[in-house]
Formats: sequence, structure tokens, C-alpha cells
Amino acid sequence: MAPKTQKTAQLHLPDGSVHELPVLNGAFQKHALDIRSLYKATGFTAYDPGYTSTASCKSAITYIDGAKGDLYYRGYPVKKLADHNTFLEVAHLLWEGELPEAGGKNPLEEAVRSHSMVHEQLREFFKGFRRDAHPMAILMGTVGALSSFYHEDLNLHNEDDRDLAAIRILAKMPTLAAMAYRYNKGLPFVYPCNELSYVENFVYMMFDMPTQPYKADDVRVKALEKVMILHADHEQNASTSTVRMAASSHADPFGCIAAGVASLWGPAHGGANEAVLRMLAAIQTPENIPIFLEKAKDKADPFKLMGFGHRVYKNYDPRAHVLKEVCHTLLKHLGLAQDPLFKLALELEKVALNDPYFIEKKLYPNVDFYSGLVLQALGIPLNMFTVLFAVARTTGWLAHWKELFDDEDFKIGRPQQLYVGPEARGRDCEESEE
Ligand code: ACO
Repeated sequence: MAPKTQKTAQLHLPDGSVHELPVLNGAFQKHALDIRSLYKATGFTAYDPGYTSTASCKSAITYIDGAKGDLYYRGYPVKKLADHNTFLEVAHLLWEGELPEAGGKNPLEEAVRSHSMVHEQLREFFKGFRRDAHPMAILMGTVGALSSFYHEDLNLHNEDDRDLAAIRILAKMPTLAAMAYRYNKGLPFVYPCNELSYVENFVYMMFDMPTQPYKADDVRVKALEKVMILHADHEQNASTSTVRMAASSHADPFGCIAAGVASLWGPAHGGANEAVLRMLAAIQTPENIPIFLEKAKDKADPFKLMGFGHRVYKNYDPRAHVLKEVCHTLLKHLGLAQDPLFKLALELEKVALNDPYFIEKKLYPNVDFYSGLVLQALGIPLNMFTVLFAVARTTGWLAHWKELFDDEDFKIGRPQQLYVGPEARGRDCEESEE
């Protein structure tokens, strides 16, 4: 839906002229100044590194209220979806705007089943990677390599072609991720199994052994399903914006997703849950918590309390709430209710939330504070944490990729810059100045 324009804002420029900027109204009482005419009309650009005040697009997929600590997918609170829906139902919601009909079939289930295998030739690609390569490096390379199998058949102006490409990527990501894990471990690849759900199949492809068939455990699968639903989308974060930017040139979608994987791999984006586990191991016992809190508060010390604070949430991250509950249920189920790291995390959260520094700066647990504990309890190795995040986030990346083709304002992404280098110099210029 196109945002309504009701008012304008006036921009007073240094030369005394006034430029009118339309005000665009979004949902949830959010407003944006439409600066598209600014450069053409005035020669001025807007300077905003990190895009902290720039809406790069319109989107109807995900909304975050950072002050309240709310996260909605297509208007549904994420906790409700994590508690009551499957990952593919949430994928349907993100892509189509609605949950599949209650009691009816989810068309994505069947579509994913028909596309979960990768071309047999792709198995050969894995042999080119070192055995000890990080599984994220392998995932980034192999998802990009899929373009070599499908590029010629793909007409991006045809919606059916775009849908098929999106389904192929959604279906093949868990297969590639599991293959990356097994290659790294020196284990034989496992083909997907059509009888299993999306998440169950992913775990099956990772953990099934020729010597010991994998048996699904509902509590574990549901825990992982919740983790994946909570990570499925988070509006215009770095990796999603990367996918949108790559796609804006009508690039091949497999390459765009590889670009998203590359961005997510950065430690400032997808890697903090690993850091939480390392931090808890370093703290060791509740008696040491005050020492680490003091380090976190000390400006001269680079240490930060990992899993605390967020650019957008200035309240408890709603995903952390759900994951804390998941930790309780899962660890109890596994007979690990007294897990020392979990108890330490609970105590650390309590102490930090009562500390004036954290209260004043509005620093609360974020999604990463408990997710590492859940993944560790599920037997997922540290180097697969971000891979799992990438598989889940692929759904959101594709929802944004699909959305941008229907956007009447869709243009190739091409930011301006504030040039601060040398002005024209060199022989030709000097001559022409004379
Ligand atoms: N521990 C101690 N102090 C902190 C923390 C923390 N975890 N987080 C922020 N602060 C302090 C900052 O030093 C700053 O202090 P100042 O005002 O005196 O300069 C103030 O709180 C505001 O912090 P900013 O860095 O401005 O907040 P920003 O929004 O830029 O950063 C970030 C958010 C990067 C997540 C930060 O909170 C952080 O580094 N947290 C720890 C790492 C982490 O958990 N990352 C995962 C985020 S969730 C995700 O990406 C999926």
C-alpha cells in the first residue's frame, strides 16, 4: 500500500531558499520525510552513514517497536507465531501476507518437498573446499553456485519464475547447510527426506548416521523451530538490506542470497550468540558477575556484556523472552534443568537489569543472550550457529526480494556520497585553469 501524503515539512537552506518535503505516513503512526526531490531541486544530499534515519524502502513485512519491545510479522506478534505455528507457515505469512488457511494445506510444504534436493553435480563443488573451512564460507559459496544451474531459465520479469527461484532457495538452504556441516566433520552427505517437516528434515540431514538412524524428538524439534521462527525476519537489518541492494540491479537471486550470507557472517551481525557462551564460560560462577559488570561499565575496557543492548530495542527483546522460556523447557526435557551456564545466565540477567548503568542506558537482553544456550543444548556446534541463523533468515531475505519487485518505487540502489577528497588537479586541469 502506498503511504498517504498529508502534510509537508519545510527545509530552510543556507542560501535562504525553502524546500518543501512531503510527509509520508506509515502504519503505527510512523512518518517519513520524502527527500527524493532534494538533490535534483537543491543540489544538497542527505548525510546518514549507517542509515540511522533513512528509510531505504517501504515494506509491509515486519514491524519493530523498539521502545515497547514488540516485533510483528505481517501484524502478528512474533511470540504468538513461535508458540502456535510451524516455520513454513511463518514463511507463507512472510511471503504472502497471510497464514495458510486453518485446517487447509500449506502450499509451501509441497513446493519445498519437490525442490529440497540439490543437483548431484553440486556435490562435487564441496570437494574444492578445505575440510576445515568454516561452514558459513561453504554455504556462501554453494548457494551462489546454484546460479550456475538455473540462471538461463530465469526471467525476473515473470512472477512465476521469481516464485520458483524463491522456492528453490528456501528448499535447498537446509540441504546445503547440512552438507556444509557434514563435509566439515568428514561425514557422508544425507539426502533430504520428504516425510519430515522442514525443521525436522534439517536436523535429520545434519545428525542422521549410517550406523545409527536419527530419531526425531518433538521437544528438540519444536525448540529449533521456535529459534528459526524468531530469526526469520527483522526488517531492514544489514544482511536484508544487502540482499535488497544486490537485487536492485536485477541480479541473480542465488547470488543475492550469497551476499546476504556474507553480510550475516560478520561478527557485528550474526555472531553474538557464540560470544555469549564464551563470556559465560569466562565468568564461570555467579560470584564473578560483579567483576564482569564493572568491566562492561568501564569505558577504558573494550569488554561489553554480550547479549545485552540493541540498536533498535530499548526494552526487553521479545525474542529473548521466548528463548528464555525455550531454555527452561528444553533443558528440563534433557535433564539439564540445573545446567550451570543457564543458571549463571539467569543470575547475570537479574543483576544487570537491577544495575543503574544498564537501567539508565536501557540495556536489556537481546535475542542472542539465550539462543546460544538453546543451540548448544540441541547439540549444534558453535560454528553452525550463524549457519542456522542464515537458513532461518533466508525466508525473510526472500520475502524482501519478492516484495521489491512489486514496489512501484523500485529503483537500482545507488547512494550518494559526500566527496571529501582532492578537488580537480593534474596537468590537464592546471592548463585549463590558466
Ligand atoms: N555492555 C555494556 N555497555 C553497553 C552495552 C553492553 N552490552 N551495549 C551498549 N552499551 C553502552 C555503550 O557503551 C553506550 O554507552 P555511552 O552512551 O556511555 O557511550 C550506550 O550503552 C549505548 O550503546 P551504543 O553502542 O550506542 O548502542 P548501539 O545501538 O550502537 O549498539 C549493540 C548496540 C552493538 C548491540 C551494543 O549494545 C552491543 O555491542 N551489545 C553487545 C553485543 C551484542 O549482544 N550484539 C548482538 C545484538 S542482537 C543482533 O545483532 C542479532
